[in-house]
Amino acid sequence: MSNEKADQMIRSSSVEEMSSVDLDSAYGPSGFRGLVRSSNILFYSLFASLGGFLFGYDQGVISGVLVMRDFETRFPRVGGNGDLQGWVVSIMQLGAFVGALINSPLADRLSRRYSIAVACVAFLIGSVLQAGAIDNSMLFIGRFIGGIGLGQISMGVPLWIGEIAPPNLRGSAVTLQQFAIASGIMISFWLDYGTQYIGGIGEGQSQLAWRLPFALRVVPAITLLIGCFFILPFSPRWLVKVRREHEALAVLSRLRKLPENHPIVQAEIMQIKAGARFDALTIKEKFPNAKTSAQIAYQQYKELFMQKHLAKRLFVACFLQFLQQFTGVNAIIYYAPKMFKSIGLSGNSVSLLATGVVGIINVVATVPAIGIVDNFGRRVVLMVGALFMSLSHFIIATLYAIYEHSWAEHLSAGWAAAAFVWFFVFNFAYSVGCIAWIYPTEIFPLGVRAQAMGIAISVNWISNFLIGLITPIMLNHIKFGTFYFFFAFTMVLFCWVMFFLPETKGVPMEEMDKLWGGSEGKETADRMARIQNELKCESRNVPIYSKTSSYSDDLDIEMQEQY
Ligand code: BGC
Repeated sequence: MSNEKADQMIRSSSVEEMSSVDLDSAYGPSGFRGLVRSSNILFYSLFASLGGFLFGYDQGVISGVLVMRDFETRFPRVGGNGDLQGWVVSIMQLGAFVGALINSPLADRLSRRYSIAVACVAFLIGSVLQAGAIDNSMLFIGRFIGGIGLGQISMGVPLWIGEIAPPNLRGSAVTLQQFAIASGIMISFWLDYGTQYIGGIGEGQSQLAWRLPFALRVVPAITLLIGCFFILPFSPRWLVKVRREHEALAVLSRLRKLPENHPIVQAEIMQIKAGARFDALTIKEKFPNAKTSAQIAYQQYKELFMQKHLAKRLFVACFLQFLQQFTGVNAIIYYAPKMFKSIGLSGNSVSLLATGVVGIINVVATVPAIGIVDNFGRRVVLMVGALFMSLSHFIIATLYAIYEHSWAEHLSAGWAAAAFVWFFVFNFAYSVGCIAWIYPTEIFPLGVRAQAMGIAISVNWISNFLIGLITPIMLNHIKFGTFYFFFAFTMVLFCWVMFFLPETKGVPMEEMDKLWGGSEGKETADRMARIQNELKCESRNVPIYSKTSSYSDDLDIEMQEQY
């Protein structure tokens, strides 16, 4: 069905006119056009992406602060070349690793939106401690607590966005958070760059030079915190999971800008409901003794590892996170000035060219992703990105190997290497930068989604931590080999996507099982058939669900009691 026809259908159809809905096309266009049309999805996703902004800002702000004169004087073991420098950077990643994991139970129990609120509080405490730090321990504790908040946000925000967006816009909407991450990195760099002049960059530098960038984070954090209570709605999928279906219907109708009895809203709510009941019934039948939410959560974690189709998805989500980090993006973001110096570029403008320009390219190149991930699909965008990233690493490594001892006489080779660093960042930004966040939000069934995302995102943070640790060692010891090392991982990404990664573009979340063989077994197929029969719902051809509909049975009552 053409977009125009689908569009017309959405606007004109009444319940009586439409007995069944072709959801795929009925949702309308994807990309920019779709986002502009679904202005509320755009607004909510942008607002929640304040979390992504905090993520990027926090990652970026520290590098500029560490080299500020006043900071170095007050914290000699942390600033400059202090022996604790590596740790003050990486303790945040360790906190984030913990935060991503603990957000799973919070997102299930408190709701997605309130888990983000808790994260904002942790982030605020961390920010206040860092901005007001008078000794190393305050700084370290602040970074760790702030990191926990950050880890929670990095898991909670894409989870929430993925669950409110329709399938045709899911990729674009989640990409907005990557856009916000990149913007946060860029803005923190330029802010550090500006505030370092407060009181001058010499001895008279004011402490405000570094306290201000630490403190300013509270503005977006407080805005997001308030928004969690007054702006962001509950995720309709979470509402169905906790059996607040009437609210889910109301939220969905608001999100889709369609009346509650509209066939599209009806079809989607029934699809979500069928998915949620399937998960609950699976647990009930497989683990009849699991009654409390803790016992159920334990079984769900276990299932993630034991059920072949879930373990497969978990591996994919985690491996993608791992590979995202091992493309070497943060090696560049954290150590670009060092790299630029090592390829023969020197002078005061090096850090501007390195971190400053890298930051701008990173933001600009995320924009096309918003338009392409839901149009061209995840696979092709990932493959093109991976191919160009590996090409960049290969060329940089080779130039480095050839001119290692003669950069001074071959300045153009140094510039060529710098250009390929920028080209690398460009290709990262629209591809795996975004898609690594989209994939885990969409491939898991509702019952285990939060748990699985927590694990996947924690892999991102621990890999980020490892990169921070090993890059300077590699740059010092294997030098150009560092880029061959990252070249190898970008090639692995390319081949793995080409041969193994299924396409998820436009697939409704509740139908992901089909891609992973989740409903192939006789037992699971029977279970789904029973549910569909019971709900008189097949995902494409559904009856009207109304506020008076009632499907209460033992399972519903048990599901309700668990929450
Ligand atoms: C990654 C970050 C990285 C950023 C760069 C994100 O997707 O997870 O580690 O610093 O992209 O834009």
